[in-house]
Amino acid sequence: MVSKEHELSEEIVRLKKERNAIILSHLYQRPEVQDIADFVGDSLGLAQQAARTDASVIVFCGVHFMAESASILCPDKIVVLPDEHAGCPMADMVNEVELQRKKQEIPDAIVVCYVNTSAEVKAECDIACTSANAVNVISSLPMDRPILFVPDKNLGHYIASKTGREMLLWEGCCNTHDRLTADDILTAKAAHPRALVLVHPECRPEVIALADIVTSTTGIIQFTRENSAGEFIIGTEMGILHALNKQCPDKQYYMSSDKLICSNMKKITLEKVHQALLNLSPRVEVKQEIRERAVRCLDKMLEIKRL
Ligand code: 13P
Ligand code: SF4
Repeated sequence: MVSKEHELSEEIVRLKKERNAIILSHLYQRPEVQDIADFVGDSLGLAQQAARTDASVIVFCGVHFMAESASILCPDKIVVLPDEHAGCPMADMVNEVELQRKKQEIPDAIVVCYVNTSAEVKAECDIACTSANAVNVISSLPMDRPILFVPDKNLGHYIASKTGREMLLWEGCCNTHDRLTADDILTAKAAHPRALVLVHPECRPEVIALADIVTSTTGIIQFTRENSAGEFIIGTEMGILHALNKQCPDKQYYMSSDKLICSNMKKITLEKVHQALLNLSPRVEVKQEIRERAVRCLDKMLEIKRL
């Protein structure tokens, strides 16, 4: 018997061709959503794919700032986010008015934003970064100017420790990664003493201090593929397990905590992807005036390599 999920997936593939659409999925999406995507990756990989696609429609299976970045990079394309309420609570921790005020206090600062920000905030910044290129972005900046980094204090703390640069950090964080504690890691290590600990740089400094490897979601997958170890403790959102098990099924992965679920990433379902392709909505669009200022900071970021 053909399952409902299979039928829906086939209909999505048919509609995708009809619409000349590409489906991009973040690694934190539901397994069945990742499976129908043309490309599954981290924030940097998704922005790069969006920038280079010749499809007419981008169906973004991720959260709002990701679809917005795609729209900033490709203003002539239709960008749809299958659930308009899939936001990123960390991106909401800074707005353009607060940032303008802070910039007035330190007028010579270079302002760097994590890509997890709104288009309005990006329009106020000099350069963006993702977790995959943050160290390289900060290292590329002139030494004689202060750096203001928004909004993730955990990522900011990690980059400052890696680059030795002094950075003024915004009081924001990812509420999913910030749930992971040093105790969680110690408990997981005690249960799996041979496993390497891989964590995302959005984790707290005391968690990062206990990790063997700190890297983006794509970095975690690449590491497990290339490293000879057979067991890994994972310190990022649990959606990554699907890609890990698919790409390297012979290895063992242990979640460091069962609290690592981003409810916003899980809002996208196959049904919503189908509806989005059918109706070409909900669309994500950015006002021309904001886009023109925000695109500069994304373009500068895309010139800089991954770690
Ligand atoms: P990366 O995709 O850069 O690994 O970041 C994870 C994340 O939290 C995206 O919202
Ligand atoms: Fe935002 Fe964290 Fe969810 Fe990523 S995992 S979308 S940073 S809340």
